[in-house]
Amino acid sequence: MKIMRSWQPNNFKLETGTVWRFPERGSWATHTSKYRGNFSPYVPRNLILRYSKKGDMILDQFVGGGTTLIESKLLGRNIIGVDVNTQALCSCKSSTNFEYDNSGKVYLRKGDARNLDFIPDEKIDFICTHPPYADAIKYSKDIVEDISLLDYESFLKEMEKVAKESYRVLKKGKYCAILMGDIRKNGNVIPLGFEVMNIFKNVGFINKEIIIKEQYNCKSTDYWIKKSFERNFLLLEHEYLFVFRKWLKNGIVCKSWVNLFFSFFQSIIVL
Ligand SMILES: C[S@@+](CC[C@H](N)C(=O)[O-])C[C@H]1O[C@@H](n2cnc3c(N)ncnc32)[C@H](O)[C@@H]1O
Repeated sequence: MKIMRSWQPNNFKLETGTVWRFPERGSWATHTSKYRGNFSPYVPRNLILRYSKKGDMILDQFVGGGTTLIESKLLGRNIIGVDVNTQALCSCKSSTNFEYDNSGKVYLRKGDARNLDFIPDEKIDFICTHPPYADAIKYSKDIVEDISLLDYESFLKEMEKVAKESYRVLKKGKYCAILMGDIRKNGNVIPLGFEVMNIFKNVGFINKEIIIKEQYNCKSTDYWIKKSFERNFLLLEHEYLFVFRKWLKNGIVCKSWVNLFFSFFQSIIVL
């Protein structure tokens, strides 16, 4: 007999600090851990609830197994999911094939996060995404558009195109959240997280939050603990969740009417 799971997490509380831990990754609705490197559904749930509202249009341009799609649908937001990999899109199709009251709509598209020309400028209310961490996990063998096949230097060049497209499609004043981890090469850490953060800042985004997300459930942990002693390095046990904001208007993030009123009188006094 098919066991019906709950559609929402039990005792969910919105995160209030800058360190997030989800030792139990979350298995409500159709979520599973089958898609390699997928994130805990608590990540998009927290972000969607904090940075979007019902009826908004969300974008995940590295959609993978579809964790963000499931959460958007359950929370009444519409979402566009993009991936270069047909297998990922098939997995998204089956994981979002459920009925739920007042759910959001899910639009799937095979495409490249570096060129979202099917989305007009400033159409998206919130970006919630999770790119590969350069070639730390390779998501395909030979899909030419797959940026998980690139070494970190080439990956960073391509992430600039991703950042520009993200900036273009996002509405002014809205938020873009990206999960990114560091990698290790020849025993030395490569700060991919901060490199990607700077790329997003250079195209015009400003930092709203920097959140440390602790990493749990790494399948290779026992192997890497042994290696870390042999080669004397520390295991990477966190990722960064960057929340960026697009300027509301040339250099103004958000000014309330009260602030604008006082700014106006200040300028008269100075004159
Ligand atoms: C870290 S996974 C996303 C996992 C997702 N957050 C989840 O929970 O299932 C990254 C995804 O990016 C995809 N990808 C790689 N290069 C891409 C590109 N240029 N455009 C769009 N997707 C790409 C990969 O196929 C992979 O599915």
